[in-house]
Amino acid sequence: KKAYPAAITIFGAKGDLTRRKLIPALYNLFIENHLPALFEIFCVDFQTVDEAAFKNDLLAGVNEFSRNGKAEPSKWADFAARISYLQGDFTKKETYVSLKSKVEDFEKSSKQRGNRMFYFAVAPRFIEVIAEALHTRKLCSNKVHDRIVVEKPFGTDLDTARKLNRFLTKRFSEKQIYRIDHYLGKETVQNIMAFRFANFVFEPLWNKNYIDHIQISVAEQVSVGKRGGYYDTAGAMRDMIQNHLMQLLCIVAMECPGAYKAEAIRDAKTKVLKNIRPFTTPQVFKNVVRAQYTAGEVDDVPRIAYRQEEQVSPESNTETFVALKMLIDNPRWEGVPFFLRTGKSMTRQSSVIVVQFKDSPHKIFKDDIVPNRLIISIQPELEISLLFESKVPGLQMKLVPVEMDFTYQEAYTESLPEAYEALLLDVLHGDATLFMRADQVEAAWKVVMPILDAWKKSPSKQLQFYESGTWGPAAASNLLKPYAKEWFRLPSRETVKKL
Ligand code: BG6
Repeated sequence: KKAYPAAITIFGAKGDLTRRKLIPALYNLFIENHLPALFEIFCVDFQTVDEAAFKNDLLAGVNEFSRNGKAEPSKWADFAARISYLQGDFTKKETYVSLKSKVEDFEKSSKQRGNRMFYFAVAPRFIEVIAEALHTRKLCSNKVHDRIVVEKPFGTDLDTARKLNRFLTKRFSEKQIYRIDHYLGKETVQNIMAFRFANFVFEPLWNKNYIDHIQISVAEQVSVGKRGGYYDTAGAMRDMIQNHLMQLLCIVAMECPGAYKAEAIRDAKTKVLKNIRPFTTPQVFKNVVRAQYTAGEVDDVPRIAYRQEEQVSPESNTETFVALKMLIDNPRWEGVPFFLRTGKSMTRQSSVIVVQFKDSPHKIFKDDIVPNRLIISIQPELEISLLFESKVPGLQMKLVPVEMDFTYQEAYTESLPEAYEALLLDVLHGDATLFMRADQVEAAWKVVMPILDAWKKSPSKQLQFYESGTWGPAAASNLLKPYAKEWFRLPSRETVKKL
């Protein structure tokens, strides 16, 4: 499906996101022929730069971060010819006057008023300023063709998110606003919908009668690195749980939507968030673990403590790790705990969703039976596997758990598009299925607010510490009891056989 001509504007063109994600994604879409024949990319930022040097830097970004590796010189030249840099202060009228004339010139030359996409790859303080200017200068006014894309963090709490939603929806219609959560663009995350709703075999089991508990874990090996300034004001709850992990939870727990359509899907997800049992303050202290990393080693390389990181306060009580237990009050999930965990500077990267089934009610074998377990691995391994009991070949009836595996590597030859490729193309096609609606964002904030409020009242209370290069504090494992001993990690095949 080829879209209308596209005028793509990136605010924050000198930023990291543009170089690491947006331009490599647009370039891949271009070389794989997904972009419309006519498009231009207007890169806006405050700094004065030499345009050729700017483009060279983008090329270096593509070479380093694109899944297709180094750019082919002739293709890059074609692509780069569509990029222009516009030096401008986001708070000044002149910036938008020149942007408008550039966009209109492009539309005149393409002889068609196509789509306009305005990507806000900027610090939160600029969102309203830019939105206001796009509105008053009528750069983003056509309700069908003009769209804005807003990056997280979407607000810093429920009040600020509501305020921002009100601000944006006064100026644009909801259909013009694309709130990005890049986890929704990941191939393996999109596949959870297919897995659940295109395979009838699992759906009848997907409830409190057969499921013991669910773990959703996003462990990161990276530290906060150069993002300390932002991260120290955010913490893992705002940075990961409120958005990415809540969205994973929604996909796992939602009812089957009436259709594969944006509104039906977003309705079903929002319902999950609204059904999460609200945390009371005593429950926050009982069911939520917050922790911060100390110095340690990751892959034999020394790591400094969080409090020593650049732009982080040496007395910081910001959490870099959260583990929590939550319940969903609806007929499907009554009583089934959902355990969520995320952290930085951990042993290794591992994002997995584990659906732990209940024990068999009637035991006829003398061996201990390990209950079935479905493991959906989002990254870095891309696979879905089902753990089940099997008879060991031999003259005795001896059982061991084995795995039935589906891996992307074995099943497909296609290379996987990056999350941002899928999402940017959806914006150009006007498909909001994988984007957050205003009420969804607010519902997710409502879930985490009691936790944030309880922490705010006693910032250092309950803050635990874990060594870099470990799987987090012991308290996070204790949280799982009596449902499991440990957070599940994808074992190598040998380990499974030895269980
Ligand atoms: C971002 C967070 O939204 O997601 C980062 O701000 C985090 O702190 C990142 O590292 C993780 O994304 P991914 O795609 O690398 O899992």
